[in-house]
Amino acid sequence: MVINRLELMDFRNYENLDVELSKGVNIFFGDNAQGKTNILEAIYLCCTTRSQKRSHDKDMIRFGEDEAHLKMLFNKSGLDRKIDLHIIKNKAKKIAIDGIPVTKSTEVYGMMNIISFSPDDLSIIKEGPAERRNFMDMELCQLSREYMYSLSSYNRALAQRNNLLKQVAVNESLKGTLDIWDEQISGFGRTIIEQRNRFIDDLNLIASPIHQKLTEGEEELKIKYVPNSSAKDLQNNIFLSRDRDIITKMSNVGPHRDDMECIINGDNARVFGSQGQQRTIALTLKLAEIELVKKSVRDDPVLLLDDVLSELDRSRQNQLLNSISGIQTIITCTGLEEFIRERISCDKIYKVEQGKVSEIKE
Ligand SMILES: Nc1ncnc2c1ncn2[C@@H]1O[C@H](COP(=O)(O)OP(=O)(O)OP(=O)(O)O)[C@@H](O)[C@H]1O
Ligand SMILES: [Mg+2]
Repeated sequence: MVINRLELMDFRNYENLDVELSKGVNIFFGDNAQGKTNILEAIYLCCTTRSQKRSHDKDMIRFGEDEAHLKMLFNKSGLDRKIDLHIIKNKAKKIAIDGIPVTKSTEVYGMMNIISFSPDDLSIIKEGPAERRNFMDMELCQLSREYMYSLSSYNRALAQRNNLLKQVAVNESLKGTLDIWDEQISGFGRTIIEQRNRFIDDLNLIASPIHQKLTEGEEELKIKYVPNSSAKDLQNNIFLSRDRDIITKMSNVGPHRDDMECIINGDNARVFGSQGQQRTIALTLKLAEIELVKKSVRDDPVLLLDDVLSELDRSRQNQLLNSISGIQTIITCTGLEEFIRERISCDKIYKVEQGKVSEIKE
């Protein structure tokens, strides 16, 4: 998959942007707060309909305006295609694929595979379990429609059950009505747990040798899925938790409480890892994702690298840049020193300045 062109109107600090991308390495460089990350956010949004920063739609409309337009032209499996997003203040956003309106944002998901890497990804290792669940979900949703459907159905049923728990706390006669939600949650939850299990197994097979190589054989990485309940026992565990759930007014059992652990040489990297070790794991996970997508969808993903090169040491920079050869990559950075020093060939270089982008010809 290759993104050929991006057009923005009143998106973030861009009044008007029309930029052509090469199928190789594209660089957007410039000082802080000029709009580099905004370009990656726009691409991510076109590919997933969601902001990576989890921003609200209205916040992405240029200050003082009521609407933003995004258009992305891309080629997939030899076909030229187009996605249009129209963000309107206080309304649901409108989406069209190849000029035809779609009602569900889930139709966009999985159409494109995008892997993004930013310094924030360290939070997958450092922060709480929600970040790691989000990592699993974002990957699995791109790889499996069944997963995406199960996850959104699960979340809907879970919200209903939590609502009901609050009502049962004041009116016990409603207790029996929990059955229907328990059943739905167990059904969708089982699929989620099974797919997460498989995903982590696949990821381990790929990530382990990558991490060995990155650390020159010093570190063995094992990613461990830590489900809150096994798939097999989920229904029973939910049932057993019911009285506690009524007291706490929330659902205490289910994959919304899952976690995963990154273990290096036997120790949990979240607790014992140094910053550098954690950063290397984040890099391993991203490199493994590239391989996993290539294997699963038999197409190259598009890679977005937001200001990550300067955070890595030279050997890790090289490893990253070597593994992206042949994959369309969009890189943001503040300066071009690394690229000049390492003689990295860049196919397009753009300077970003106050919401305007100009091409630098070598
Ligand atoms: N809705 C909006 N309307 C107008 N400008 C906005 C909007 N949202 C954010 N901005 C502006 O966009 C700029 C930030 O852009 P961005 O995050 O892309 O910068 P950057 O070039 O990646 O900087 P850094 O190097 O610091 O990461 C800020 O100056 C911010 O005020
Ligand atoms: Mg930035």
